[in-house]
Amino acid sequence: MTTIHNPAEDTASTVPATVPVPTTVPVIAAARRAEPYMRLQWTDSDTGAVGYLVVHTLRGGLATGGTRMRAGCTLSEVEDLARGMAAKTATFDLPIGGAKGGIDFDPKDPRAVGVLERFCEAMRPWIDAHWVTAEDLGVPQHLIDEVFEKLGLGQSYHAAIRRAADPAATLERVRDGLSAAVEGGFLLGDVIGGYGVAHACLATAVSWGRMPAETTVAIQGVGTMGGAAAYYLHEAGMRVTTVADAAGALYRNGGLDIPALLELRDEYGEIDRSRLPADVEQLPRAAVLSADVDILVPAAISYAITPDNSFDVRARVVVEAANAATTPEAEAMLAARGVAVLPDFVANAGAVAWAWWLLLGEVDDIPDTSFDRLRTTMHTKVARLLSAWTDHGITPRDTGRRWADDPAPITATVVIP
Ligand SMILES: NC(=O)c1ccc[n+]([C@@H]2O[C@H](COP(=O)([O-])OP(=O)(O)OC[C@H]3O[C@@H](n4cnc5c(N)ncnc54)[C@H](O)[C@@H]3O)[C@@H](O)[C@H]2O)c1
Repeated sequence: MTTIHNPAEDTASTVPATVPVPTTVPVIAAARRAEPYMRLQWTDSDTGAVGYLVVHTLRGGLATGGTRMRAGCTLSEVEDLARGMAAKTATFDLPIGGAKGGIDFDPKDPRAVGVLERFCEAMRPWIDAHWVTAEDLGVPQHLIDEVFEKLGLGQSYHAAIRRAADPAATLERVRDGLSAAVEGGFLLGDVIGGYGVAHACLATAVSWGRMPAETTVAIQGVGTMGGAAAYYLHEAGMRVTTVADAAGALYRNGGLDIPALLELRDEYGEIDRSRLPADVEQLPRAAVLSADVDILVPAAISYAITPDNSFDVRARVVVEAANAATTPEAEAMLAARGVAVLPDFVANAGAVAWAWWLLLGEVDDIPDTSFDRLRTTMHTKVARLLSAWTDHGITPRDTGRRWADDPAPITATVVIP
């Protein structure tokens, strides 16, 4: 294995003694650029918005992946995300392929719902038979479900649900799971992905032999993923000192009152600054990346950490809640400084894994069943990623890649009960 000198050795005094870093790290292999199975591009005749569907892999006639909407979304971004979805389904032994939808349009534009409707109508052959989609950046689950219902397709998991012997009963079962009430006034389907991210962070603290209360975290984005991750980390006693939304960063040295801040969010995951507690400091948006914390959780945009800002990162571990949060070049730079990146296809894959556990009838609408399974799975995977990193200098992405590149064979037709 090729290795490079780890500059962390030269700056050992800046690394908390209790946080192990490997003595050597491998050069990260160039990111894989396998050709996707299929790319589709659509232009909205009303607004000129452009939308994409990329199916990276189709397994058993199915592929899964959310639909995002953001101004500036590109085909190559959607390709990266579809590739990431294929890695997630393989890593979590789900019997389907990976796909992603993306629309280049501002989700706050009053015409956004119409754009999403027309995009789904254009993609109808795929969403009817092959593509199981869900929420993603700029597209909440309730909105995509409303659009599917309007199109006569029930709910965004339609392509799987229609395979059931009794699709109406399966739809009801899936809706019950998604809308099961959990503590904090949330719905299970909205928080499960963030719960998985929180446990990726908690498993990191376990690997350091640290109590949650001795560990600090900063989170970029407090929408579906970041908000839920912040909630469960706060609940577990970890100190969330810094969060950011699109409007800026918020900081409190002793730890932010996360439940109170989440109460102040609007439908776009932005916190109302006019009602902030007096002891919360407002900082520029980028301050979240350079926060002096143990763990950094990018949970907003893709490509948040680039070569331009990777040296600002002071955390010892980056936990990718956002998809494709770290560019390959930035990740190599972080690795060279002894900073591990827990890749999106493990850290945030609780969302898709749980959706499929629900579809396959392996979890139900009792939240503890889902929380227990995801917590156990995440702690096991993260422990393995981090021990390969600290013991052998193998990056978590490279270890995860071995799982992703070796999906369990599909031996029988996927049965949706
Ligand atoms: N929602 C899911 O189920 C899910 C599952 C897996 C991965 N993800 C990934 O998580 C990320 C976030 O998705 P989401 O569904 O939580 O989105 P969301 O729209 O619910 O929330 C996005 C949050 O990020 C903030 N934000 C936007 N731009 C920002 C910026 N430049 N700096 C700081 N904050 C910014 C917004 O204000 C908001 O708080 C995406 O990368 C998505 O692909 C989401």
